Amino acid sequence: MAGLRIPAGVIARTGGPISKTKIVLDYRRFGSPGSHITEDTAFKKIADEMPRFQDKLLNDNADPNIQDGGIPMVGWKREAPYRSEAELRDITAAANALREISDDIWMDGIGGSYLGGRAMIEAVKGNLEQTNAMSREERGGPRLWFIGNNMDPRAMARQLQLMKGRQVAGSVYSKSGTTMEPAIAFAIIKAAMDESYSAEEIASRIVALTDKSKGALLEFANKLGLKRFVVPDNIGGRYSVLTDAGLFVLALGGLDIISFVAGAKDGEEATRNNSLESNPAFLRATMRAVAMTNWGKAIEVYATGMQDLWAAAKEAQQVFPETEGKKGLGLWVTPELYTEMAHANGQMIQEGPRIFIETFLKVEDPGVDVLIPAKGTPVEFVDGKSLHLVNNAFIDGLESAHYQGGVPTMSYLLPELSEYVMAKWYQLERNVAALSSLATKVQNPFIQPGVVAYKNAAMALLKNPATEQDDGANLQFRAAV
Ligand code: PA5
Repeated sequence: MAGLRIPAGVIARTGGPISKTKIVLDYRRFGSPGSHITEDTAFKKIADEMPRFQDKLLNDNADPNIQDGGIPMVGWKREAPYRSEAELRDITAAANALREISDDIWMDGIGGSYLGGRAMIEAVKGNLEQTNAMSREERGGPRLWFIGNNMDPRAMARQLQLMKGRQVAGSVYSKSGTTMEPAIAFAIIKAAMDESYSAEEIASRIVALTDKSKGALLEFANKLGLKRFVVPDNIGGRYSVLTDAGLFVLALGGLDIISFVAGAKDGEEATRNNSLESNPAFLRATMRAVAMTNWGKAIEVYATGMQDLWAAAKEAQQVFPETEGKKGLGLWVTPELYTEMAHANGQMIQEGPRIFIETFLKVEDPGVDVLIPAKGTPVEFVDGKSLHLVNNAFIDGLESAHYQGGVPTMSYLLPELSEYVMAKWYQLERNVAALSSLATKVQNPFIQPGVVAYKNAAMALLKNPATEQDDGANLQFRAAV
């Protein structure tokens, strides 16, 4: 038997977006029905302050609210989007060398040193669950695996089995060089590589992405003779996709990083004007700040109907809560993949406590479409229609219903899922996170003491399991059945 055949004409090419570069922020529904955010007094007040916060990010080095450990953490804005093509070609060549010699590439890292890269790769190349199941020819390169972002033994055991007998290479990404999860995952994967390759081969198959002058990873990488790319001092993990280290990950994933940086530069330029109406970062940061501090909203639903943008929605969860969740404040971000979750969380968003705002990530041209052959089926009314059109009807329907139900919404409309567009979105969102933090009592966007607290507690437990008894919990309260 020949197996499944796809009827002619079902998978269709799309015509291309109207503009390949223009991202639209649609904020018509941010407010309650009948009123609009721009009429809100708090909105006007915070919006007036935006040029001052922008100036802080661009020109001020002395303000402690933009510093971490005395360093102004603004390299992602001032420097990273402005790169020479020669530098980018070197990074690409190093990544291609690994892509050529491997069937599987593992990328080790957690938090900001993981999710930004994954979000960009999945948006442009397709979600990994599906692309890893395709042939190398269909995919256009090795399979990609992200490791070190949890300590699940079942997942790690399967991961090793999946790569067994195949040619592998990888990158280990940790700015501090001391984060435990990627360090442990690296120890495990390195042991497997030690079994398979000589020390020399290992040095040509693993690249370390870390600080330029300090940290345990740097020392270990030097001992092993690994090639390195740097995360500069003035850029934190969740702002680091445009560093050499972050770009190396994208190039490992097969992305064109020259076009990516061009998009980030244009995104950055779009934030550098003081006119509210033509500055989506000012607008969005102001709306989020008002929702957080004046309307008592606690949760931003970050929604998409595209599986390839699911990691980008999670990336929003990465950048905003770690940036804003301080001093008892901040907006919790919940990534939502519709319509799957419309049948779950959707109920709460529509009718639960009115603590939500919602941001949609929409795409004008998905690049490929499916024409629904539905003659003679219960859904004949969609026969011949495009799945993208149907998807849009669901997403627009959700937005409208949620707005009517009292959820202020806004949408990004991305023209297509290219390197250029994703980078532009990425850079806009870094600006939004920094500006909305500065506009609220949260203040410093560039520190994460809460994350440091858990890292220290986990480290203490690993080194001395008895420390659990010292955390203040009364250990007699445990129920077992
Ligand atoms: O944004 C951040 O700073 C964090 O999410 C870090 O990226 C994450 O904790 C990993 O840290 P490191 O790169 O030092 O291993």
